[in-house]
Amino acid sequence: MDKISRIFNSSIASASISAAFELGLLEELQRAEVVRVEAYCRERDLHPPSLLAILKAMASQGIVELKADLTAARRGPLFAETYRYQSYFYWLHRGYGWLLLNLAALTSNRDSRGEIVHRNRDFVHRDPAAIARAGQEYGERFVDRIFEEVLGDQPRMVAADLGCGGASRLIRLARRWPQFRGIGVDTSSEAVALANHAIESLGLQGRIKVVPGDVENLSVRPEFAEVQVLISLFLMHEFWPHDSCLRVLRGIADAFPNARRFVICDTYRSDADPNKDAPIFTLGFEVSHAIMGRYIPSLSEWDRLFAEVGWSCLGTYRVGVPHSVLFDLVLPGAPPAHQVGRAASASVTAVDEIDSPNKR
Ligand SMILES: C[S@@+](CC[C@H](N)C(=O)[O-])C[C@H]1O[C@@H](n2cnc3c(N)ncnc32)[C@H](O)[C@@H]1O
Repeated sequence: MDKISRIFNSSIASASISAAFELGLLEELQRAEVVRVEAYCRERDLHPPSLLAILKAMASQGIVELKADLTAARRGPLFAETYRYQSYFYWLHRGYGWLLLNLAALTSNRDSRGEIVHRNRDFVHRDPAAIARAGQEYGERFVDRIFEEVLGDQPRMVAADLGCGGASRLIRLARRWPQFRGIGVDTSSEAVALANHAIESLGLQGRIKVVPGDVENLSVRPEFAEVQVLISLFLMHEFWPHDSCLRVLRGIADAFPNARRFVICDTYRSDADPNKDAPIFTLGFEVSHAIMGRYIPSLSEWDRLFAEVGWSCLGTYRVGVPHSVLFDLVLPGAPPAHQVGRAASASVTAVDEIDSPNKR
């Protein structure tokens, strides 16, 4: 097939993967191997021609194989990879669908009312609940093992997760350690409701609390004083450029006066050759943030900022999301590493430690 037809067809397949993630279709194919179109639609009250269209789009790229009579689909040669990366497609289409639809209009210097747009492009919509749902899935798949290894054994820890989404990370830690206590903060009311529902259904409300809050302007709460360890995954890049991120980091340090450690996981600017293909996720991340007028820092810009705020970086670890790392930071006043349960170097040997900031 010629390349331009492949680009056209793959954009339809990409939207179809997102839909298949949302409908649980990929999960069903993973579980049962074969999906019968009529039965699947009957059980879930779905429109059979639409489901068949989604399957055809995926079949065009080898993700599924449709039976000749179009009554059933089975896994195709590209299924395993698609299943592994499915939440990136949902992140792109559900999370940033409005942005993609309005790409030309958003390139204008004027907003929908004809007003000139200067620096603030906050009118660009995205779907925080979809982004949080996708982030939870790819976080569990590509980050959590490394995150827990770097965090080490801290069964009595009190932690705060900034931009916690559905609070899945706090829940995992609370289920692992009966004495663990956690506080989650998120701006999205949907994320807070989702988190509280999950926490209550597991009977963890005595140990985890999720509150609405904006990390850019934290209102101090008495329980923040108990927090020893801060964590934040896939949020902090939002606060750049430099001066505003510096202000946010200082605000966090003030709001959590007894926190001595901060584990941050985030995506950095790839600085890849624009004339070459990028790995999955990277192009979507950089295009969407450019349209939103967001500045994505490089790894060395992060390092310089941590030094400026007075935090030292004990290690930087690559995670499974492209161009993304985990920073293990020590805040002023921290006791020696072994006293706060920081992972001894032996226990993180499985982690690909890419460098120490002093060496970079
Ligand atoms: C990409 S999601 C990551 C969610 C979660 N940390 C995870 O890794 O699964 C970013 C989360 O940060 C939240 N968020 C965005 N801006 C925020 C802010 N200024 N203060 C607090 N939360 C924010 C979003 O609502 C969303 O739940």
